Order: sequence, then C-alpha cells, then structure tokens
Amino acid sequence: MIGKLNHVGIATPSIEQSCKLYRDILGVTDITERRALPEQGVWVSFVNLPNAQVELIEPYGADSPINAFLEKNPRGGQHHVCFEVADILVARDELRAKGATVLGTGEPRIGAHGVPVIFVHPKDMGGVLVELMQTPTDAH
Ligand code: CO
Repeated sequence: MIGKLNHVGIATPSIEQSCKLYRDILGVTDITERRALPEQGVWVSFVNLPNAQVELIEPYGADSPINAFLEKNPRGGQHHVCFEVADILVARDELRAKGATVLGTGEPRIGAHGVPVIFVHPKDMGGVLVELMQTPTDAH
C-alpha cells in the first residue's frame, strides 16, 4: 500500500533552534523558511534531504495539536512518520478494513505539503503516529 517515506515529523518548541541543529551541526543547506499554517495549528519548516524531508513543526496558538506532545516532551522529539500513497481514500478504507484507527472523522485534510493526508492512531502502528500523504505519481 505505502510507497516512499516522504518525511519524518519532528515536534519542536523552536523551529529556529532546530534549524540551527540541522544547519550548523548536521550541515544541511536546504531548509525552507518557517511558515505559519494557522488552520493546522503549527509553524512548519522543511529540512530537505536527498531522499526525504524532516518536517519541523512548532505550535501555533493555544489549540495546537502538538501542544500535548510538547508537554510530555518539552525538548521536542519525533512526532510522526509520513509515507506516500497513490490514493488516500483507497488507503484509508483498506486500513479501516484491517482494523486500524484513522484519526478524526477519517476525511482527508490538506496537510503541510498542500495534498490530502490522514493520520493513523499510534496504538495500531506499534506506537508510531503514521501520516499517509496522497502524492501525485508525477511528483518524482
Ligand atoms: Co507530516
């Protein structure tokens, strides 16, 4: 069902601080400017690697969905992994048929990359929050 690993989501209390880590210590040169996504309650910045991205997410506002994570992990940490799928609705229905819990209503929403995404509950994924992203086949 899943295709490529698209990105690893890292929650951070400060994208600015995290960017320093990736730029100055790990030597990454291609990091996008921090951008607000108010509907999703996050600031986001992408660390572009040759084969995938690291998606840095910082809370935007008091209702941010990552506030609870950062309360438990004040210094930040790995939040989710995102795999590409060809058809988000087919993937969702297949997961549900296999007993996995899709978060929220299960209706895909537009994620940080501007394409439809869903999230699968970590309790069904070995403790890992899994994001599935519909990726046009011509994207690679
Ligand atoms: Co993500």
